[in-house]
Amino acid sequence: MAEMPALRHITSINDLTNDEIERVFALSETYLSELGDPVIPYRIARGTTTATGRILASLFYEPSTRTRLSFESAMSRLGGQIITSADPATSSVAKGETLADTVRVVSNYADAIVLRHPRDGAARLAAEYASVPIINGGDGAHEHPTQTLCDLFTLQHENKQLRDLNVAISGDLRGSRTIHSFVYALARFGANIMLMPAKGMELPAHVDQRLREEFGCRPVPKSKYRKENSAVDALYVTPDKPHQLSLNVGIEPAVDVQIRKGIDVVYVTRFQKERWAEASTDYPKIDAKFLKQSKYASTSVLHPLPRVGELDVALDSDSRAVYFRQAAYGVPVRMALIDLLIGREAGLTRYAAGFAPPSYPLYDQRRDAGIRCPNPNCITNEPLEQAYVRNRFWALPSPTPHGQRLRCIYCEADAEAAVAGHARRLDFEPVAQDHAAARGPLPQHLVFFHSEADALAAGYHPRAPRRRAAAAR
Ligand code: NCD
Repeated sequence: MAEMPALRHITSINDLTNDEIERVFALSETYLSELGDPVIPYRIARGTTTATGRILASLFYEPSTRTRLSFESAMSRLGGQIITSADPATSSVAKGETLADTVRVVSNYADAIVLRHPRDGAARLAAEYASVPIINGGDGAHEHPTQTLCDLFTLQHENKQLRDLNVAISGDLRGSRTIHSFVYALARFGANIMLMPAKGMELPAHVDQRLREEFGCRPVPKSKYRKENSAVDALYVTPDKPHQLSLNVGIEPAVDVQIRKGIDVVYVTRFQKERWAEASTDYPKIDAKFLKQSKYASTSVLHPLPRVGELDVALDSDSRAVYFRQAAYGVPVRMALIDLLIGREAGLTRYAAGFAPPSYPLYDQRRDAGIRCPNPNCITNEPLEQAYVRNRFWALPSPTPHGQRLRCIYCEADAEAAVAGHARRLDFEPVAQDHAAARGPLPQHLVFFHSEADALAAGYHPRAPRRRAAAAR
């Protein structure tokens, strides 16, 4: 019997290796050169047949213009067909159907599903129930990996090599899913990341922590850049050279020079009003005045769009404005991704489980009691999905001040477990500091709680000191 190719999902930019991202870009370049518009070079004008007979489903629970239409245009250019559900009011979700059921059904109607959803981590849940690849078209404030592919391709195509590129990112760094995928990728390709958040809209703590702990980013002391870059709130260099990695105080003169060489990219984002309870005041605006300093002389201005006032329309005719080309590249890039996933070029089958192999032990809470993801917008906190989703976390090696750090496998936000319970004996004790080493598979009976109060409320009682001593032996 022929071996079934492993199913592949793209829920995070980290589901793709750097090599795979480069393969997507190489194929995107081929499409641009072979099928591009002779007059408007960034526009795809002709089609091919590499996805003939294949169907792509768009399942959009949130508004979209670029992502949905460029995916659909891409599929059409590949000779494939599209089916679309873009209005929750006219689909079964209005009748109370779960996402898990919907993707199980739609999997039988299409060869891949592009999903956009307001809940963080929805793409990962969908991937657990789908029998075809799920492509995350934006899930809450979590990630938007295919936008990042477009962003990186834009820079590469505009002759900006990612290594050592100085990239400033402005606006709502907390609510913008595009930025979360983007910063991981910048770090992985060795760019320097300069954060210019609107007040109170800094990167989520877990994204910041991952940049430093998993992606080799080194924070640069403010004294090194603040004089010339007063708008920059945090700056990370992502050294690829071991001698830079081993530094523990300050930064080397070479890096210093690097930071002073100017800002190669300004990535602007809108205030994500749908993810905040209150309106924003004092939101940064990028205009010609902002860009007049010499360090911006050869910058490229990117924006995932839509813009709603934070990016001056007067910049549209400025040679540094790249955002409309960036939106146009959505077609060749998504053509390449679809083709590599389900078309004639299909080859993205590297991970048997469909995801990047996890490097941490899994804590799978098979019970009602226990810790929950603290992110209120996480798909695990969606009442409709309760029968389909369990609280599951990666047990991370770095401890928090009060116990075990856990990462939700869906939305990737961090939780903190101060207390470890025993599911059969119904007793608990504080999480030992060295628990965080998370040595190998976690015991079946283990139940983590956020706090002692939560454990008591769930009917657990403090472990007797005698048992604690025995457990320690
Ligand atoms: C982005 C999104 O939906 O996250 N739009 C897009 O896909 N290009 C950015 C945004 O909505 O601000």
